[in-house]
Amino acid sequence: MHPDFGYFEETKLGKPYDIKLLKRLYPYSRPYRLLLFGSIGLVLLITALDLALPYITKVAIDRYIVPQTDSLFKDSGYDTEAKSRRLKVNVTDPAKRRLVQKYSDLFYTEGQIATIPYDALSQVEKSDIAVLRQNDLAGLGSISAIFLGLVIINFVLNFIQKMIMEYTGHMIMHDLRMRLFTHIQNLAIEFFTRNPVGRLVTRVTNDVQNMHELFTSVISLVFKDLFLLLGIALVLLILNWKLALVSFTVLPIVLYASLNFSKRARDIFRELRIKIAEINTRFSETIGGIRIIQLFRQELNNYRRFKALNHENYLAGMRQIHVLAVFMPLIELLGAVAVALVIFYGGGRVLGGFLSLGALVAFISYIRMFFRPIRDLAEKYNILQNAMASAERIFLILDTKNKLQRPSAPPNTDVLNLEQITEVKLENVSFSYVENEPVLKGISFNIQAGETVAVVGPTGAGKTSLINLIPRFYDPTSGRVLINGHALKNFDTSLFRSKIALVMQEPFLFSGTIRENIFDGSHPISEKDMKNILKAANCKNLIDRLPDGLDTTLSEGGASISSGERQLISIARAFAREPQLILFDEATSYIDSQTELQIQEALKKLMENRTSLIVAHRLSTVRNADRILVLNRGRIIETGSHLELINKKGFYFRLHQLQNGI
Ligand code: CTP
Ligand code: MG
Repeated sequence: MHPDFGYFEETKLGKPYDIKLLKRLYPYSRPYRLLLFGSIGLVLLITALDLALPYITKVAIDRYIVPQTDSLFKDSGYDTEAKSRRLKVNVTDPAKRRLVQKYSDLFYTEGQIATIPYDALSQVEKSDIAVLRQNDLAGLGSISAIFLGLVIINFVLNFIQKMIMEYTGHMIMHDLRMRLFTHIQNLAIEFFTRNPVGRLVTRVTNDVQNMHELFTSVISLVFKDLFLLLGIALVLLILNWKLALVSFTVLPIVLYASLNFSKRARDIFRELRIKIAEINTRFSETIGGIRIIQLFRQELNNYRRFKALNHENYLAGMRQIHVLAVFMPLIELLGAVAVALVIFYGGGRVLGGFLSLGALVAFISYIRMFFRPIRDLAEKYNILQNAMASAERIFLILDTKNKLQRPSAPPNTDVLNLEQITEVKLENVSFSYVENEPVLKGISFNIQAGETVAVVGPTGAGKTSLINLIPRFYDPTSGRVLINGHALKNFDTSLFRSKIALVMQEPFLFSGTIRENIFDGSHPISEKDMKNILKAANCKNLIDRLPDGLDTTLSEGGASISSGERQLISIARAFAREPQLILFDEATSYIDSQTELQIQEALKKLMENRTSLIVAHRLSTVRNADRILVLNRGRIIETGSHLELINKKGFYFRLHQLQNGI
């Protein structure tokens, strides 16, 4: 088989972003669209406030800090030719009138208004200026208060917007994860043999998390940054279109750099992600296979391989830094060039009296604001890419159809009801995991209610595969499985499964207490019945030995007890279901003869008055079966009772001799 480390998908993926993917994500955001629109509305408001702040600075400078400018001077009808700045003072205020009189040679007074040229202000004492410009100071105070007020409102809005955004993001992530979980949980077993656990775990954790980021960052990218850029451009053009155009001259270079960057970054970011995935895989393989590695003394080899991977990761990381290290400072540089252009050209315009000082200052602020989102583009681009890759992988899983569902049948119409299983029959069944490599060929047999049929055969003969067809973990490639004479496909799978119990070759127990493992809590069970079941399943000794008895907590996969004990517990679990049909796959791992005896006894009790299909490795288990099927390389080569098969002196006879050391 081709080794699949879970990162192949990544390399196979197409474009880093895709409108189609975004479209597919849309339904997940639908339930939250009001919140979303609210959030976008807030973003617009916040952007407007962001845009307002430099403008307020401009007003503060032009109206209050720089004394009356030409336009005001013009209004009062004085020497417009001189184009010099002047301060107008209202002399109705006694304190000001006193000062105007004190500097009367500097002031020109007409009616209530006294005017002094800006240049002449240098001759006025500093403390007197404060009095003369009392109104301006008061104005500055209120405009600062407005500024501060807006900043606070901005802060609050930002907070609300972030909370809404994160909430929506989390809810969407929550829904998506539940959807993915339910989908995976209901997929046919075949899917799980193809997909390593680690990869599925990543889908449900990391990839879903990335979607959250996609969601929040796309909103902020598209709405916040784009609005801000457009808004700034507009304000600049309105403020002074000539100066705006001058500062925009660097934009073609910015655009070129950004496009170039995104092209190069795409490959580099992706390479880095692949390397990280490889490191993850290697590491989890090391942990999973630590026994083998240590036993076969593969530490050095494994170390070398990991080192090589780690080095490749470092190289990819450096390439990424290289691109980032050029891009980000380059954008900073271009931003600075734009500011320089504004200072040079705009400064000249101020000197010439065509532009107010405040407008120039605001311009510089806006230009700085303009380049910030562009510089952060690199980071957002990475998030976007990561998230798109995740989205693609999530949809890859969501698009996996459950192969066991009957394709065109309308749900539950001709689904048959099932009370009693009277017969299980296989009709010329063949099965393969991989196309054209059949593991079961032309299998036919039947089990009547109450019968015990056993399957024996060498390792790899297909015994477990055969058992797996009954609960419909897989469907046969050809032939039919019939229950009570009807195709298994026509029954409600979960109803049918509720009537059977399966004891697997490698029983799986969940982390949790033994009680939770045996009694799933689906129906109440009395303490007495519980005791009986434990006794029948020969679990009593085991449970009495454990410190907390039934409430002993098992570690993941039940690894804290032996495989024989696991099988005993899963026999008890089978008992608790009160099944009609027992499927039992005897453990192959070494089990001491006492436990083996216990298992066989328990099994015997479990099979009493029930229909059963038993896979056995120890022929002693099947001695009493009504019929024994001898399976070899996917075919039934002999059938009969123990005695019949022994007398036949065929394959079974030889197996028997081998096991008994004859
Ligand atoms: N197989 C496979 N894919 C799987 C499970 C099994 O290709 N997911 C193949 C095995 O490699 C084997 C054949 O199917 O060649 C039969 O496997 P199985 O039914 O598990 O064999 P058993 O008879 O149960 O072998 P054992 O006695 O070792 O349990
Ligand atoms: Mg098996």
